[in-house]
Amino acid sequence: MKLFIAGVILGVLGFAAGIWFYFSTGMVPVAVSDTDMPFEALLARKALHARIVKQGDKPSPVPADEKNLLAGATVYVQNCAVCHGLPGQPKTTIAEGLYPKPPQLFKGHGVTDDPASETYWKAANGIRLTGMPGFKSTLSETQLWQVSQLLANADKITEPVKKALAPPAPAPAASGPAH
Ligand code: HEC
Repeated sequence: MKLFIAGVILGVLGFAAGIWFYFSTGMVPVAVSDTDMPFEALLARKALHARIVKQGDKPSPVPADEKNLLAGATVYVQNCAVCHGLPGQPKTTIAEGLYPKPPQLFKGHGVTDDPASETYWKAANGIRLTGMPGFKSTLSETQLWQVSQLLANADKITEPVKKALAPPAPAPAASGPAH
């Protein structure tokens, strides 16, 4: 029995020493272009999913009508597009340089398979240790639901909403003599 307890203690100490060695000898991937840490993506997703499930599924107080989707498009262009992209546009340099990568929400199915409440949670609270900011202190409840409804319906947006999501026209080239 004594030997067993000594074994357990040694095992725990050895494990702790291994972790300390891993973190203190420059082996941990910290650069954007490094590969994943072992189990990093799996554990991060599991933790995030568990937290959102714990929160429960709230029905959206904002209906997915055109007025709200248009308002959501304005919120999106101003706050999200720089990382999550616009329909038919290439990824921005900011999106290219982030790790983890921000999913391009108007490419493929985006988050149309998630309930609006899940997107609402992520937009309100952000996702720690990623580039994903939390917007609950800067956007109103209504704006957060509007942009979440837009993303939940990103695969069936109408022409006016698509127009609202077009990139801003480039500034006209300077003409005439330089000042
Ligand atoms: C500075 C960059 C940046 C901005 C701005 C940004 N995000 Fe994100 N977002 C990210 C990153 C990076 C991730 C991926 C995080 C991860 O892998 O866990 C992400 C993840 C998400 C996800 C989860 C996607 C999925 O597949 O589950 C949603 C939803 C989301 N963002 C919505 C928004 C909304 C809405 C806005 C604007 C109000 C916004 N984001 C603004 C960087 C950004």
